[in-house]
Amino acid sequence: MSESEIDIHTTAGKLADLQRRVEEATHAGSARAVEKQHAKGKLTARERIDLLLDEGSFVELDEFARHRSTDFGMEKNRPYGDGVVTGYGTVDGRPVAVFSQDFTVLGGSLGEVYGQKIMKVMDFALKTGCPVIGINDSGGARIQEGVMALGMYGEIFRRNTHASGVIPQISLVVGPCAGGAVYSPAITDFTVMVDQTSHMFITGPDVIKTVTGEDVGFEELGGARTHNTTSGVAHHMAGDEKDAVEYVKSLLSYLPSNNLSEPPAFPEEADLEPTDEDRELDTLIPDSANQPYDMHTAIEHVLDDGEFLETQSMFAPNILTGFGRVEGFPVGIVANQPMQFAGCLDINASEKAARFVRTCDAFNVPVLTFVDVPGFLPGVDQEYGGIIRRGAKLIYAYAEATVPLITVITRKAFGGAYDVMGSKHLGADLNVAWPTAQIAVMGAQGAVNILHRRTIDAAKDADEAAATRAKLIQDYEDALLNPYVAAERGYVDAVIMPSETRSHIVRGLRQLRTKRASLPPKKHGNIPL
Ligand code: HXC
Repeated sequence: MSESEIDIHTTAGKLADLQRRVEEATHAGSARAVEKQHAKGKLTARERIDLLLDEGSFVELDEFARHRSTDFGMEKNRPYGDGVVTGYGTVDGRPVAVFSQDFTVLGGSLGEVYGQKIMKVMDFALKTGCPVIGINDSGGARIQEGVMALGMYGEIFRRNTHASGVIPQISLVVGPCAGGAVYSPAITDFTVMVDQTSHMFITGPDVIKTVTGEDVGFEELGGARTHNTTSGVAHHMAGDEKDAVEYVKSLLSYLPSNNLSEPPAFPEEADLEPTDEDRELDTLIPDSANQPYDMHTAIEHVLDDGEFLETQSMFAPNILTGFGRVEGFPVGIVANQPMQFAGCLDINASEKAARFVRTCDAFNVPVLTFVDVPGFLPGVDQEYGGIIRRGAKLIYAYAEATVPLITVITRKAFGGAYDVMGSKHLGADLNVAWPTAQIAVMGAQGAVNILHRRTIDAAKDADEAAATRAKLIQDYEDALLNPYVAAERGYVDAVIMPSETRSHIVRGLRQLRTKRASLPPKKHGNIPL
């Protein structure tokens, strides 16, 4: 019924009027705007919510909220909802709160009322202890509303910060997200982008062209690929929005609703007898220490059904991070990847892993660390880039973590990187090494060059020098490049057959389920940033 046909002085009319208003709110974006949205391969705000939440579970808040601006003819354009759909519902039966920016209404631009709606739903999530999922698709600060829009962004950032480590916060970026608006996703735990349709940047291509003269397109500057491979801003690049939503649901399945609850578990008792599959790990490590192998293999042999949900898989691939389950209980994985830069730690790898360890620690997810690390990546770039303060983050993250920590050294654990990668000394609970482990200050070549330079220089010719070097390398390898020096001191608790890794981890996690540890009381730490 249209507005003119409804008599709001009768009860039936009042009910019909509500229905009319709901209809209007549900279709706040014009048909043309919706068509444009779909033509770009994008869904509407409500379609996205439908995809994310369990069917029929969505309860909307502030459906009839609208702006009260009068500048620039705004009084004639007051759509219900004000360009953002907010509310709560369930994902796999678990409560979540959601806001979904509606690009078809005022370009999804954020004004005062819009900002207040997001603040309300965030406060609601924090009060009730449920994750909040922000779906970002917006032209940014609503230009007509000026400083009110900026104020609202600040309010949202503050709430993101207060909610950090209390409730999981996940951002889906499925359209433009520009200027200061990017800082809300940046503060959240995970950011998921869609190839070709998502863009994030502080200043766009036009401003960059004017200021620096650089020519760069939207996609190259701030597309999903850029933020997944180069900047490390995003944690997953989805092929389309459906894939993005599926990834978010998977992430949620490993996370508790809040920091005071445990992550969802589906307990199933593991068989501890080594299987043929377990025994495959006994041949994983090549005889030559310089030959790479794929650390995914070790990880997948330990996780239930070999299922490993990687985070930031395209960024700093020399370290692997992600989630899986052991006996149905969620675990976080951090692992050096010998296939990339020989598994060296560099700035990006350190920051990627540090953030991940802290995320796990905040949300009661135990961390399993797989170590094969020849050291920190040498280079002027790395030093100038601040590998000292930025590598320190990973030390900090492990040392402050109070969740169960289990570390497996598969091969190299050299120098400072030995300490960094979940060592006993930083507080890991259980550390095991494979017989192929080499735990030492450095590899044989480097050590011999430093310790025996004069002996090698004294050789009468090149052949003798080579023979002497080879012998000294052999001596060093035999004496120090093994796990037994560390085992002698209890720095590793056990040296195990690779095929026993799964059963060791299963038993360890069972034992650590009752772990209670706390740090000295303080306002907050001062992690080097
Ligand atoms: C008001 C906006 C708007 C905005 C878009 N619209 N952005 N209205 N404030 N910020 C409106 C448009 O006028 C248009 O209205 C409708 O939304 C759709 O926009 P189009 O331009 O037609 O869409 P498209 O071609 O897809 O381009 C999308 C876009 C572009 C690239 C995002 O709209 C754009 O550049 N917008 C401005 C972006 C911007 O500079 N925002 C401020 C960033 S600074 P009609 O009525 O024609 O349909 C910022 C600071 C945050 O956000 C501060 C935090 C501290």
